[in-house]
Amino acid sequence: MAEGQLVLGIIGHPVGHSLSPLMHNEALRNLGIKGFYVPFEVKPGEIEAALSGLMALGVKGVNVTIPHKQAVLEHLDQLDPVSAATKAVNTIDFDGGRVVGYNTDGAGFVASLREDAGEEVGGKRVLLIGAGGAARGLAVKLAMEGVSEILVINRTPEKGEALVKHLEAGLSYTHAEFVPLKNDELKELLPGVDLIINATSVGMGGGDELPISPEGIDDRHLVCDIVYTPLKTPFLEECRRRGARTLDGLGMLIHQGDLAFQIWTGKRFPAGRIRRLLMEKLKTA
Ligand code: ATR
Repeated sequence: MAEGQLVLGIIGHPVGHSLSPLMHNEALRNLGIKGFYVPFEVKPGEIEAALSGLMALGVKGVNVTIPHKQAVLEHLDQLDPVSAATKAVNTIDFDGGRVVGYNTDGAGFVASLREDAGEEVGGKRVLLIGAGGAARGLAVKLAMEGVSEILVINRTPEKGEALVKHLEAGLSYTHAEFVPLKNDELKELLPGVDLIINATSVGMGGGDELPISPEGIDDRHLVCDIVYTPLKTPFLEECRRRGARTLDGLGMLIHQGDLAFQIWTGKRFPAGRIRRLLMEKLKTA
């Protein structure tokens, strides 16, 4: 590549729907940094070759998305504490010949909570819905940030229990518990919860399904959704009607990108511009 050009990108399969190129290219343009951010379609089984090729070509860094977030681990020279504890990577930095993995997903959520909702996570009692990769990323970061309790609910109990075991093994100072609850029991638990997070894909792409019954959710709660298509999920809308404060998934998307961009460039996203751009894009999507 031409000298002085910064090349960034994302590896995934499929990678075509990612909003990251839009965000990062806008940031590069707006900050006057010469370079571009490219979506790279990488099939499973081709990760090692892809990483060597990207490094040889002088690419500075890439984001990592489905289905490679765990598979890249074995090809990295170093992991930051969060990606090591999560056992998943969403950002790679090619740092002078070393391949370093980070995970900015959980930190993106925490930053959104702080900057978009004005809330700190320390001491919070959390009800986490979901036990997939996204839920694990959030749970690990929330435990590291000192929430007092994480209650996990999941459709498939075994996966919920496995997430709790994962937390107990590495982050045992946070109380974590799987709650195999029917809805009426959930209602009794809700007064003891501050933060409710939907980390499942329920609500994505339309449909009116809710991840849990909203019964008992009220103005004591801050309810967050990681889903951002649509921004106003049926779950957030229902919780808002019941008096809860709500936080949509757009902030987490922007902040995880901002944190990756800072690792590569040392500079922050022009967050306001990027939020407006994504809102426009999501309106027409
Ligand atoms: P990701 O890496 O994005 O988290 P994932 O690992 O497939 O994706 O996890 C998706 C999460 O959404 C899981 O917690 C899943 O529940 P199961 O463990 O029971 O599969 C949850 N999920 C997806 N569709 C759901 C639905 N219709 N109802 C309830 N939970 C659902």
